[in-house]
Amino acid sequence: MNQVYQKVIDCYESIKDRIPFTPKVALVLGSGLGNYADSMDVKAEIDYSEIKDFPVSTVPGHAGKFIFGYVGEVPVVCMKGRVHYYEGYPITDVVLPARLMKMMGAEILFLTNASGGINASFGAADFMLITDHISIFAPNPLIGENIEELGCRFPDMSTVYNVELQQKIRKAAADNGILLKEGIYAQLTGPSFEAPAEIRLLRTLGIDAVGMSTVVEAIAANHMGMKICGISCVANLAAGMTANPLTHDEVQAAADAAAPLFQKLITESIIAFA
Ligand code: HPA
Repeated sequence: MNQVYQKVIDCYESIKDRIPFTPKVALVLGSGLGNYADSMDVKAEIDYSEIKDFPVSTVPGHAGKFIFGYVGEVPVVCMKGRVHYYEGYPITDVVLPARLMKMMGAEILFLTNASGGINASFGAADFMLITDHISIFAPNPLIGENIEELGCRFPDMSTVYNVELQQKIRKAAADNGILLKEGIYAQLTGPSFEAPAEIRLLRTLGIDAVGMSTVVEAIAANHMGMKICGISCVANLAAGMTANPLTHDEVQAAADAAAPLFQKLITESIIAFA
């Protein structure tokens, strides 16, 4: 058995009796959304530290657990906290939780994150519907022996972000008077923020927002045939776009400030997925 796949199975076997329902949506909570579960009808929680060999985040504000609950009528498994490649985990560990949530039965992967805005029309605290991504600055999580049980060797990537889900999110935003921008998200490895010249390069490449997560999870989920959608909270304008240096604390504070509206947008979107 492929070792990477075996690890997903071992994680699943160790928790399957504690999973209260088959989730429809797997929701990855990005920076600022750590308290999202407060708005859910929670049925069960599983700390990552209780799952054998599960990758546990070392970033302040990212301590982790799976939270199972209902958003409206929709059964959802939330990831409160995710690991990032810059923490030193192999890329296959970074996408293990997405694979595990698919094994739990989730059909939809809803990715959220905080990003740096590159598009000059974006402002801090804007929300951006992710319409496509650029993965070439991060390692591909499918490198290595293909896991045939999950998907094929050369997956098509023509439509990673499901068009019907995008439409439902647009409508949920419009119905609730929430301004929703759209654009291309690129994942860089971090952990250093970008240099201004790198931001100019990324802008030239047509990238609207940059961050340190999400794309590798989308690739792994696309490999498994999940329906994927994503929203980024533009926490700051990227390096060189303002006179201010970037700090993690300020990015976190900006994401926290945008959180109530972000939570509303996510809740209304998930209800529309029912
Ligand atoms: N760059 C990369 N990742 C980020 C940023 C940024 O400016 N802001 C939030 N996450």
